[in-house]
Amino acid sequence: MQSGQLIHYHIQPGGKMRGTIRIPGDKSISHRALMLAAIADGKTRIDGFLHGEDTLATLMAMRSMGVQIEQTEQSVGVYGVGLHGLHAPSAPLDLGNSGTSARLLAGLLAGQPFDSTIVGDASLMRRPMRRIIEPLSLMNADVHASDKDTLPIHIHGGRQLHAIDYTMPVGSAQLKSCLLLAGLYADGISRIHEPVITRDHTERMLQHFGCTIEKYMNTVSLFGGQVLTAANVCIPGDISSAAFFMVGASIARGSDIHLQNVGVNPTRDAVIHILKAMGADIELTGHKMVSGEPVADIRVKAAPLHGITIPLTRVALAIDEFPAIMVAAACAEGKTVLHGADELRVKESDRIESIAAGLRAIGTTVETFDDGMEVTGGAIDGGVVDSFTDHRIAMAFAMIGLRATDTVTVRNCANVNTSFPGFVEIASAAGLSIKQDATA
Ligand code: S3P
Repeated sequence: MQSGQLIHYHIQPGGKMRGTIRIPGDKSISHRALMLAAIADGKTRIDGFLHGEDTLATLMAMRSMGVQIEQTEQSVGVYGVGLHGLHAPSAPLDLGNSGTSARLLAGLLAGQPFDSTIVGDASLMRRPMRRIIEPLSLMNADVHASDKDTLPIHIHGGRQLHAIDYTMPVGSAQLKSCLLLAGLYADGISRIHEPVITRDHTERMLQHFGCTIEKYMNTVSLFGGQVLTAANVCIPGDISSAAFFMVGASIARGSDIHLQNVGVNPTRDAVIHILKAMGADIELTGHKMVSGEPVADIRVKAAPLHGITIPLTRVALAIDEFPAIMVAAACAEGKTVLHGADELRVKESDRIESIAAGLRAIGTTVETFDDGMEVTGGAIDGGVVDSFTDHRIAMAFAMIGLRATDTVTVRNCANVNTSFPGFVEIASAAGLSIKQDATA
């Protein structure tokens, strides 16, 4: 398909999910592996890298700062330039749809001797950046966003950063990681306190590259100036992508699928706990540690689901999976209630509204709150759903075709390529009757 085309999915009702699936690499870990390999000393080989648009945006950004990166289908080779070896990019860094690239790179760039500018697509240009601007400024960085605290961000380099002791106002792994990356360039020990635990891939990856960090409860500390040493990385399948198949298999009678080699980091696996609490039949086997991350195979069989109140302690740890979880809720018996998820409003789309609009389009009763929603499960009609150009909304609603009584069309699905290239092929091989078409 040519870029700029609109891609729509058409899903025929019925079917079931069977077979063994290998889910593409974890997006969060892929970003971190690239960034840290780029500023390490020596060559790093990354296996299982996600060749999605978001992670490729990070790859292009690192290349444009002088990092030599070799790409094959199997692996990525990164020739690290060391902590102080990056060069000024000759143009603004365009990070497309990728919030993780923008926020993490802002932290990395704040400590460089050169100036830089970060831009993105229409969705990324709307997303809040004050959360990183404020603490980076406290570290003595010269970082400015637009009047609305959105991209473009302009970073004036050549500033000596100072370590901070900082309590984050929001639970955000992107913010925590931004500050840890800036902390590498700061004098002294940076201490970051999280209001709730968030994904800890940056901490694990820093340790994998030989950094010393300290973790105690919700606080992570790191001293500046540490040298990173190249270390090969093997990236597991992305649990956020696996979540669509966990939901698809749970809701489609007769399903039984195996998802191989999926990351099951305890700061990412809340989707499994939530679906199990709803009655899902999910079994994990073959646990192992790979490059500092827990990995397992996941088997999911169809099971009758029931609604639950999502425990508040699980919300931050399942933040990307709510589109899929709410599709499961629409197929469950009774009500599912979600609170404490206001961060969903500032994702690739306002996911509270996008999920609610999609569910209403297929006949489900939904009430929305500032910080969540209540979904009443029942029969699923066909209908036309808008993804609002949000990859996770598109994939979640594709799965609902398995339980619909008529065709489901999901519009504006091109951004699925940001996190899950090959989704249509993999989903149809697993048993979803999905076709895509493109219009100019
Ligand atoms: C991510 C962190 C989360 C998540 C995003 C990826 C990361 O965002 O929603 O898709 O890789 O650090 P926040 O940290 O802003 O909650």
